[in-house]
Amino acid sequence: MSSAAEPTRPVPVIAIDGPTASGKGTVAARVAQVLGFHLLDSGALYRLVALAALRRGLPLDAPAALARCAAALDASFDGGRVRLDGEEVGEAIRAEAVGNAASRVAAHPQVRTALLERQRGFRRAPGLVADGRDMGTVVFPDATVKVFLTASVESRADRRYKQLMEKGFSVNLCDLLRDLSERDARDSQRAAAPLRPAEDAFVLDTTALDIDEAVAAVLEFCERNGLSA
Ligand code: CDP
Repeated sequence: MSSAAEPTRPVPVIAIDGPTASGKGTVAARVAQVLGFHLLDSGALYRLVALAALRRGLPLDAPAALARCAAALDASFDGGRVRLDGEEVGEAIRAEAVGNAASRVAAHPQVRTALLERQRGFRRAPGLVADGRDMGTVVFPDATVKVFLTASVESRADRRYKQLMEKGFSVNLCDLLRDLSERDARDSQRAAAPLRPAEDAFVLDTTALDIDEAVAAVLEFCERNGLSA
C-alpha cells in the first residue's frame, strides 16, 4: 500500500517517433499489446483533420480554418475502429492522398496546438505508447522511454508499397519514393515541431530488421528503463 508521503508517479509513456513508413505504427501497437498499455496513433489524428478538411473543401493552406476544424474534430477510437462524425473511416484515412494532405495540415502550428491537449488526454493508467513525430519532443517531453525509429528511404518506400498493395490500393513505386522523400523533407524542415530525435532518444535503424526484431529491441530498451510486461 502506498503511504500518504509517497509522491504519485506519473503514468508512464513510451514515445515512438520517426519518419513515414519506418514501422512505428506496427512496433507501437505490438509494444502496447505486450505491456498492456493504451495506444495513441497521433498520425491518425492529423489524417482525420486532413480527411475532414478535404471533405469540407477547406484549403490546406488556411491555418485558422484548419485549426478550427481540428479543435472541433468529432473523432473516436475504439478497439482499432476510427470514426469521424460517427462514420467508420479506418480505411479512408490510410489512402496516400490523405497522408500527403495530413503532412501539409500538420505543418501549421495552429493545427498542432489545437490537437495538443487531445493527445495528452490519451495518457491513462497503466501506461501509454504514443506513436508520431513529436511525441518525445513536444507532446510528452517527460516520457519514460523515447524511441526514434529510422530506416533508409528505399526500404521505407518498399514497405509502404507492399502495405498499400495488400490493402488493394493501386500504387507506383517511383511515385511513392518521391512522395516519401517530399514528406520527409516537409516533416523535418517545418518550423513547428520538426521531425527529429529527442536528445535522450534511443535511435534504432530498422533497415535491416524485421518487425519482430524491431519490437524485441524496443522492449529490451523499455525493460532497461524499468518498463516490462
Ligand atoms: O503513416 P505515416 O508515418 O506516413 O504517417 P502518419 O504517422 O499516419 O502521419 C501522417 C502525417 O501526419 C505525417 O506525414 C506527418 O506529417 C503528420 N504527423 C505529425 O506531424 N505529427 C505527428 N505526431 C504525427 C503525424
